[in-house]
Amino acid sequence: MASIDLVGVSKQFGALSILDDVNISIGDREFVVLVGPSGCGKSTLLRMIAGLEPISDGTISIDGAIVNHLGPQKRDLAMVFQTYALYPHMTTAQNIGFPLKLRGSSPEQIERSVARVASTLHLEALLDRQPRALSGGQRQRVAMGRAMVREPRAFLFDEPLSNLDAKLRHHMRIELRQLHKSLGATSIYVTHDQIEAMTMADRIVVMNRGKVEQIGTPLELFDRPANTFVAGFLGSPTINFAKARLSAGSKDVTFEDGIYPLALNGASDIAAQDVIAGVRPQHIEIVATDVAPLKGTVVLVEHTGCETNVILDVGNSEWTVQTLSRHRLNQGEQVGLKFDPAHLHLFSASSQERILW
Ligand SMILES: Nc1ncnc2c1ncn2[C@@H]1O[C@H](COP(=O)(O)OP(=O)(O)OP(=O)(O)O)[C@@H](O)[C@H]1O
Ligand SMILES: [Mg+2]
Repeated sequence: MASIDLVGVSKQFGALSILDDVNISIGDREFVVLVGPSGCGKSTLLRMIAGLEPISDGTISIDGAIVNHLGPQKRDLAMVFQTYALYPHMTTAQNIGFPLKLRGSSPEQIERSVARVASTLHLEALLDRQPRALSGGQRQRVAMGRAMVREPRAFLFDEPLSNLDAKLRHHMRIELRQLHKSLGATSIYVTHDQIEAMTMADRIVVMNRGKVEQIGTPLELFDRPANTFVAGFLGSPTINFAKARLSAGSKDVTFEDGIYPLALNGASDIAAQDVIAGVRPQHIEIVATDVAPLKGTVVLVEHTGCETNVILDVGNSEWTVQTLSRHRLNQGEQVGLKFDPAHLHLFSASSQERILW
């Protein structure tokens, strides 16, 4: 297994800058998820780590040794793609064993390795079937098996579950995590699905427009997003934002529609300034208007069965409040909104970077 280090990695296609000064250190046995919107450079970065795409600047090291000039075979990393690319005329056993055959392993050796991988992936009963007789999830497991049989130094996954339906994705998410636990293999996993990132990662790398926005554990990023982009990218429903003004000494935050007292310790040296305030839908309580400093007008109530999403006009912004109680609310009704100041995220209106705690 292996540690992987990216230092100052950049990529240009012609005059176009695709990745800019990417620095990521991935520990041995770590499961790191690269997440970000479509086109932000995730696949390009993964292909550069795999050695399938040359880098324009910086260094990529595996176990401390720079591999910039090594081809994909010499890097000994296995890549699993969204499209499984199985050979249609080969059985499961032949597909899984193929990399070993290419390597010139003996038939006995191949059989032993295929049996071991098939047992880990619960594919024993499917070894004689061709891909067309397998479900999407089973095909994805065969593709995994083909990567595992090589015993690579690390696994690189590029959206391996995006062709599966929601239920199967959930199932495969759990399987992949369990597999990672048992193999202890260093893994880099690319997705644009924030739920996949939150549930699977030891650490998440949030990318945007070719840059790393923040690196941390799922809960670090959720609880203390470094900027408005990360705050808005992770969490469902999306975090609520509103323009506001932070008072000198951080005593309170003035929203368009009311003043919210903060009563915080240790933030008294911060100057008064325009801010973007963020509160997650799950952290807001709907209360009577006379006991809340902030008010909103009900636009819509959505019942999902378990939770209720209340969509509100708060000043010039649209907010969502998610609660477990089934409020009886009418469109146009005014309600009070309450939250613990510890759950208020404040970002500088000019830089969009987090300020305060
Ligand atoms: N060979 C190429 N020549 C020029 N531009 C390219 C090339 N390959 C990729 N790009 C551009 O680089 C950017 C990043 O692409 P990439 O495939 O890495 O994005 P991604 O984050 O994986 O997106 P998605 O989530 O849609 O898969 C895109 O704007 C893409 O158009
Ligand atoms: Mg991609």
